[in-house]
Amino acid sequence: MPGAGGRLVAALCALSVCLGCQPKPPFQIIGVDGKEATLEPKVNGSLTEISWKRGRDKVAEWDQKLWFTPSLEGRVKLDPTSGRLTFVKLQLNDTGEYRAEVLVGEEYQCTFFSLRVLDRPKPPQLNCTATDGHIQVRCALDTRDAAQNITPSYKWKYQKSSKEIPENTSAILLEKDVDRSDIITCTIGIYSAKANGSISLKDCAPEGDAPQKRDRTMLLIPFVLIPAGMVGIHCLWKCGVCLALFQSTDVTEGAEAIPENQRLQEERSRHLEEGSGEKASALGS
Ligand SMILES: *[C@@H]1O[C@H](CO)[C@@H](O)[C@H](O)[C@H]1NC(C)=O
Ligand SMILES: *[C@@H]1O[C@H](CO)[C@@H](O)[C@H](O)[C@H]1NC(C)=O
Ligand SMILES: *[C@@H]1O[C@H](CO)[C@@H](O)[C@H](O)[C@H]1NC(C)=O
Ligand SMILES: *[C@@H]1O[C@H](CO)[C@@H](O)[C@H](O)[C@H]1NC(C)=O
Ligand SMILES: *[C@@H]1O[C@H](CO)[C@@H](O)[C@H](O)[C@H]1NC(C)=O
Repeated sequence: MPGAGGRLVAALCALSVCLGCQPKPPFQIIGVDGKEATLEPKVNGSLTEISWKRGRDKVAEWDQKLWFTPSLEGRVKLDPTSGRLTFVKLQLNDTGEYRAEVLVGEEYQCTFFSLRVLDRPKPPQLNCTATDGHIQVRCALDTRDAAQNITPSYKWKYQKSSKEIPENTSAILLEKDVDRSDIITCTIGIYSAKANGSISLKDCAPEGDAPQKRDRTMLLIPFVLIPAGMVGIHCLWKCGVCLALFQSTDVTEGAEAIPENQRLQEERSRHLEEGSGEKASALGS
């Protein structure tokens, strides 16, 4: 009979462990590379043992003494009273599924976590445009940060006066008569991490100026470059035609040139002789 009882206890024990660790939807925890994150298990009662697992591997334990897997050694803290596991300095590859198995009396209580570690945000890019009666300043996330699909918090500030602009959006509108010598700073917050970028309101082109500048450059193409090109082509074409004509005259008439010239020369000398004769007679008379 004691054997059967032992088997029953073992079975119940196994069952309770099994029941205690039924997979449950995990708590979603998000942290940032280099920052802190805490996984806090749900504990009903007072615990006597804690075991933290990542997937199937045990990564941290408290059972009279603390133990950590080498990759977490020095980077995490385990609180034996609450079972809390704190990553002091997250790494991107800490991203993963974790679970706490806490022993309370004879029962294991399990809590599941899904930890996601984000990249540290890069300074946002600011630009501004003057629209009708307003200046719009935009604060754009770096493409890598935008790809993480996290909506950051935004903080806006005038640098000169340190005055805050109470907006929590990626773009703000300022009155047109704002001090153009001031600088606007946008600070984005992604969980515990921050990054900022600035823009001088001097660089904020007055309405329509920036596009006009671009237009002026664009106008060079139809009104200067194309005519210049056409004149050039025309010249080349003309020169080519002239050259061709010149060459063709040379070539086609070259064959007859000598007899023709000779003929003309003969004629000319005849005229000259006659003329001089006339001249002489005129002089003589
Ligand atoms: C905590 O445990 C006690 C008994 O051990 C139980 O009655 C109670 O419902 C539990 N509370 C929670 C929140 O699970
Ligand atoms: C995790 O990343 C760190 C650097 O961020 C690296 O030193 C470490 O080897 C990586 N660990 C694993 C298991 O890939
Ligand atoms: C300013 O940034 C916004 C958002 O990133 C972008 O759509 C826009 O083209 C930028 N404007 C200029 C003039 O760079
Ligand atoms: C700003 O907006 C973000 C996202 O909408 C939100 O999570 C955050 O709590 C807000 N911050 C403040 C200070 O209102
Ligand atoms: C912007 O970030 C830099 C560097 O991270 C920091 O030194 C500076 O104090 C921040 N400026 C503001 C206005 O938050």
